[in-house]
Amino acid sequence: MSHQTVIVLDFGGQYNQLIARRVRECGVYCEVKPYTTPLEELRAMGPIGIIFTGGPNSVYLDGAPKVDPEIFTWGVPILGICYGCQLMAHLLGGRVAAAQDDSAREYGKTETHFDAGCKLFRGLPETGVTWMSHGDYMEKVPEGFTLAAWSAACPNVAIADKDRGFYGVQFHPEVNHTEHGTDMLRRFLYDVCRAAGDWTMGDYKRAAVQALRDKIGDGKVLLALSGGVDSSVAAALLAEAVGEQLTCVFVDHGLMRKNEGDEVEHAFSRRAMNFVRVDAAERFLAKLAGVEEPERKRKIIGGEFIRVFEDEARKVGAVDFLAQGTIYPDVIESGAGDAAVIKSHHNVGGLPDHVDFKEIVEPLRLLFKDEVRQLGRELGLPEHLVVRQPFPGPGLAIRVVGEVTREKLELLREADAIFREEMAKAGEDRRLSQFFAALTNMRSVGVMGDGRTYDYAVALRAVTTDDFMTADWSRIPYELLDRVSVRIVNEVKGVNRVLYDITSKPPATVEFE
Ligand code: XMP
Repeated sequence: MSHQTVIVLDFGGQYNQLIARRVRECGVYCEVKPYTTPLEELRAMGPIGIIFTGGPNSVYLDGAPKVDPEIFTWGVPILGICYGCQLMAHLLGGRVAAAQDDSAREYGKTETHFDAGCKLFRGLPETGVTWMSHGDYMEKVPEGFTLAAWSAACPNVAIADKDRGFYGVQFHPEVNHTEHGTDMLRRFLYDVCRAAGDWTMGDYKRAAVQALRDKIGDGKVLLALSGGVDSSVAAALLAEAVGEQLTCVFVDHGLMRKNEGDEVEHAFSRRAMNFVRVDAAERFLAKLAGVEEPERKRKIIGGEFIRVFEDEARKVGAVDFLAQGTIYPDVIESGAGDAAVIKSHHNVGGLPDHVDFKEIVEPLRLLFKDEVRQLGRELGLPEHLVVRQPFPGPGLAIRVVGEVTREKLELLREADAIFREEMAKAGEDRRLSQFFAALTNMRSVGVMGDGRTYDYAVALRAVTTDDFMTADWSRIPYELLDRVSVRIVNEVKGVNRVLYDITSKPPATVEFE
């Protein structure tokens, strides 16, 4: 399978994988390579274009990451972004200096004017917001280049050498804050590099399958399948690659939503792999009996999860690879590589201590969430699994406030299913980031028929968010809330009151515990 390649030459910026993702989004294959990659190796890849990424350094300092200027003689178009732009200017005879006063130093959203005649900006609005993050600026533009964009603070926000196909932008076209940023990248790829757009998620899948086969050989692989999007897609991909060499252990802790365990089993038990569903509900409930404190509940569940998984792993015997559905945002959040730690990733329990394996495989490590969903569709996973909302590892246990019992879980499952059904019917499900029912530990007085009731209150929660670090409560229609409330109180015995949570995060969190 042959396809055109774009090289993203990595100078240590924080958005490098995002650039790669945008290039893929434009239908072009690309690979991120460290700037230290030998030039012959880069050339042998036969790139149709090269993108120099941003980076935290200053090009004029000793030891700043550089690339051999021979790269400029290949006749291959180059786009420099931020540091990459400055590096290009520096190496081609321009001058880059620290901005002396704050006015030329730009951070954040900046109103920018574009030369509509430049290939990068053709057909786009002549003024727009770009995302800047630079303390250096180009004092002198290299020979052969013209200015292609400017802002109030900075006369040379973008430079272009149309004849050689060299372009540089001080801002970050790959981030969402830059208006039409992806369009600019698309114009570089299609109008400058003459890309054919010959890369699809189907190609990605085939390449990933081949890479997994090469790596795994005839080794054994073990994966903890939670039923979440990431582990499900990782399981389907590995099944396609190595079939029966893969064992997927699905620990059913009895804290899943209505029908969820069966749906996971249905989706996977017929694939070529060893699918093991462990019904561990009794074990988890026994451990949780009498426990009210949220952190203790979480710890118990995390610990028990690992033990059940280890028990199953022992039955499989020595495995060569432990597979995980880690995706790119997890890598960044856990602070791997050079990027700053944002929060430690909290999956159920972390890595098991007592499973014998030689290596970890993380086949989704470089993908973003929506790419993972697309790959899942490519692998034939059912839509409900692919678009599944995030669901916490400890499951419904942190949506039953206080002690968890079988009866309370049952009430919650029914109420939650009604909420989800009505939200889907109203078409609200795709618009919102996450919504669910929680069971409060409050009982209150009601009247039903002629009798007094003393039952639980269910709380509904619906939020919109980009990153789950902050979230806004959703203004869903009153009529919808009314339908859900009437149905829950009528259909779920033991519930006589329905509340809607109108707190954002912060100060509340998304989950109740
Ligand atoms: P909070 O409640 O922290 O939730 O505002 C933010 C997002 O994280 C999910 N969440 C978890 N996911 N294990 C997980 O895998 C957990 O222990 C966990 N706790 C919360 C939550 O559903 C929301 O999407």
